[in-house]
Amino acid sequence: MKRNTLFFILFIWTYSHAIYAIPTETKIPAQAAVASAHPLATQAGKQILLQGGNAFDAAIAVTAALAVVEPYSSGLGGGGFWLLHEQKKNKTIIIDGRETAPALAHRDLYLDQNGAYIAKSSVDGALAAGIPGTVAAMVHLSEKYGILSLKTVLQPAIKLAEQGFPVTQHYQKMAQFRLSVLQSFPASAEIFLHNNKVPKAEHLIIQKKLAQTLRLISEKGHAGFYEGQIAENLVSAIQAEKGIWQLDDLKHYRVKEREPVQFQYHDMQVFSAPPPSSGGIALATILQILQTYDFELLDETTQSHLMIEAMRRAYRDRAEYLGDSDFVKVPVTRLTHPWYAEGLAAGIHLEKALPSDNLHEIIPAVGKSVSTRTEGQDTTHFSILDTQGNMVSSTMSINYPFGSGLTAAGTGVLLNDEMDDFSALPGTANIYGLVGAEANAVAAGKRPLSSMSPTIVKTPQGIALLGTPGGSRIITMVLLGILEFEKNSDPSQWVKRARFHHQYLPDKVFFEKKAFSKDMITRLKKMGHQLQETDSDYGNMQAISWDYKQGVSAASDPRVEGQAIVFDIP
Ligand code: GLY
Repeated sequence: MKRNTLFFILFIWTYSHAIYAIPTETKIPAQAAVASAHPLATQAGKQILLQGGNAFDAAIAVTAALAVVEPYSSGLGGGGFWLLHEQKKNKTIIIDGRETAPALAHRDLYLDQNGAYIAKSSVDGALAAGIPGTVAAMVHLSEKYGILSLKTVLQPAIKLAEQGFPVTQHYQKMAQFRLSVLQSFPASAEIFLHNNKVPKAEHLIIQKKLAQTLRLISEKGHAGFYEGQIAENLVSAIQAEKGIWQLDDLKHYRVKEREPVQFQYHDMQVFSAPPPSSGGIALATILQILQTYDFELLDETTQSHLMIEAMRRAYRDRAEYLGDSDFVKVPVTRLTHPWYAEGLAAGIHLEKALPSDNLHEIIPAVGKSVSTRTEGQDTTHFSILDTQGNMVSSTMSINYPFGSGLTAAGTGVLLNDEMDDFSALPGTANIYGLVGAEANAVAAGKRPLSSMSPTIVKTPQGIALLGTPGGSRIITMVLLGILEFEKNSDPSQWVKRARFHHQYLPDKVFFEKKAFSKDMITRLKKMGHQLQETDSDYGNMQAISWDYKQGVSAASDPRVEGQAIVFDIP
């Protein structure tokens, strides 16, 4: 079934030249679109586009609005990745606003005197929080890419924080999940609970302090958050809870502009997040493994089997090689090369699963513990297209629902627990069951390895913008979304597609009820796969399609409560 190498090279050459020949920069969409995980954030993006802002201004408005109305997913106390495409320059870059480990952090930060992991120390409370990057990213976006003032674009979020937003079922679910940690921090309970309980539906969450913080940022920019009163309040709150932040950690925080990971899959040019995210590299590995087969000619069970085997290998490499490339040498060129994928594909058997234990062991696993969590809706994503053809695909996080649970008094800022994305003890699993090695060990100033995968796909026929929350499952959801895009330019098909996931360890295929038929389950089990149906559906994809013939369309994952809109700009 394998293509021979010469044919493969010709195939890649032909398609890549076909792609590069398209003058995408001369194309202009007839309509704009915004898709985000909350209707109020989507409307904030629309408002700014209608006020004359570009996609980058709208991205700041949506980032800030989501920080207010989805406090369990992202926020000023968190970080993320903003993948931008500037149409006039035909330039696609990523803003890395990932959190950094504070200067006093070190490899054994979360270990006791016996070298064992201290339960929850990287998940709940002050020690779990990295230095946030979201505000720096918003200011950078505004200064370098926006056309409206920061004051204008932050206005919708300030209003939402001051006037409040109504509690929904999804809010209740997330608050219930983190109830005990929210109750343990009075400044959090006061804002996000009501009488110390999960608030009733329609209860208004009003965030006056957060509105003040946003206003200060709108006036003073970067310094409004990373220096002065807010910075002092953040550091005091952290230190009062035995955390290790210092004022200099905040003062020295900077976003990084990076080249996205780019690769070719059939006629698609895929752009996604580079280290310190694992998303782009893992997507390149998986898709380029699939590309070595006549994938579309295979039956559905064999396709699923191949995807599972490709996922297994990509997540194995994630665990061994990936970390913050400013600190460790990540072999990006090798890992994203089609020949490397061909080599991995050579070890795949078309009729049989190869257990993860049979792959080359990374390090003796100290504890192959398994996270039993199945929520998969932590973190958030939005996609934006303006009528100049500028685009933003952004995934942002505070990690676990409601992050560390700690709100810094006087700021309204709920802090992340992104430090859990490091390998606290190489060889042990984090909250998502992901194992890691030395490449992702904790170090001062280092960024924890992420799975966030904001993605833009360009083809001769059009463009796809997509991404989703979901912890370790983000990458495989985006993968399935890209494969749907190949079949169909309607984004409602990409976001609703039933999902499955394998991450090397635990050696299990997690799947949504509708992902496999009974017959497929029987056949996959016979091949040797361990299958586990998830307790509930997972993910929250926000996608936009710009088909050069059919126009713009957008879709929000039907599993949750987001909103996707397409509209004219008069
Ligand atoms: N905190 C989730 C991620 O970055 O992958």
